[in-house]
Amino acid sequence: MKERIKQLKNEIEELLNNSKTLKDIEDIRIKYLGKKSEFNKILKSLKDLTQDEKKEIGPFANEAKKSVYAKIENKKHTIELNFDAETEWIDVTAPGKKIKKGSLNPLTLVQRDIEDIFTSMGFEIADGPEIETEFFNFDGANMPPNHSARDMQDTFWIKEGCNDGMGDGQVLRTHTTNCQLRYMQSHKPPFRIIAPGRVFRQEATDASHEHTFHQFEALVVGKNVSVANFLSVAKSFFSSFFGKEMSVRVRPSYFPFVEPGFEFDISCTNCSGDGCSTCQNTGWLEIGGAGMVHQNVLVSGGYERDKYTGFAWGFGLERLAMMKYKIDDIRLFHSGDIRFGRQF
Ligand code: DAH
Repeated sequence: MKERIKQLKNEIEELLNNSKTLKDIEDIRIKYLGKKSEFNKILKSLKDLTQDEKKEIGPFANEAKKSVYAKIENKKHTIELNFDAETEWIDVTAPGKKIKKGSLNPLTLVQRDIEDIFTSMGFEIADGPEIETEFFNFDGANMPPNHSARDMQDTFWIKEGCNDGMGDGQVLRTHTTNCQLRYMQSHKPPFRIIAPGRVFRQEATDASHEHTFHQFEALVVGKNVSVANFLSVAKSFFSSFFGKEMSVRVRPSYFPFVEPGFEFDISCTNCSGDGCSTCQNTGWLEIGGAGMVHQNVLVSGGYERDKYTGFAWGFGLERLAMMKYKIDDIRLFHSGDIRFGRQF
């Protein structure tokens, strides 16, 4: 009897191995394990065996039955999932595949650096909308309609015909200076803030110009804020940012929102002032615009005229990143080129 059970088990297993459909399996089950099957008869006849025979054959027959049923279920699964357990298995002990990590855009890195340095100097970080009213972008910054300084910034107007001199249009902000007024209108001096963000200009692009780029504005307002405060904050910032002692100098210039206004330079990051090809032998690199906040702007911000003074500056984040990482084309930042991104 034991021998016969073994034979039947082998037979079933072989048939299962060769079966291709669920129907094949059901046929095998009915034929070999159904009510009228030989296997079933054997199981039923176990009760007629002697005690000793029962002891020997009983467990053996049950084991065979269990194993055959398990094989049937397995095979069903394999067919249902269209999965071949022989070849398609997973080695859970295999070492994992290395996950490819992305990298941060150098602009993000530079922005984080800037924010760290300024917050450590007690500055707050402010923000403003990229789609801005004509008032916050221009008028309130002392650039009323028809002011010639508006021509300095090639503006994207949101709706055609908005640039009609009525002062109620909307623009893609041309500078982060819009954040100055927004902050002033909801805060009282003294305060110090920076406002990094994206700005837009209708410009032809080349290695140093983009229509979409980033600036960061700094604004300090209080009693007796002076140019000396500006120079000292700028010097501390650039020295921390470039990791070495930097010098800052100012040259007179004009921006409607400051009086006096100036451009400021830092000592050349390459030669530290001795003169090299990076700085065209001047020892200095131009950074951006700055000045003492115009009283008209402080009044637009909601403050009493001549009660406070302040300094402000604004310049391109890209320029700073290009200096720090020696990048020679501004268009790379938004190129999406992975070879560029991987270097940071
Ligand atoms: N908003 C100016 C620009 O985009 C830059 C600027 C100049 C900002 C002087 C300032 C400033 O805050 O004081 O060209």
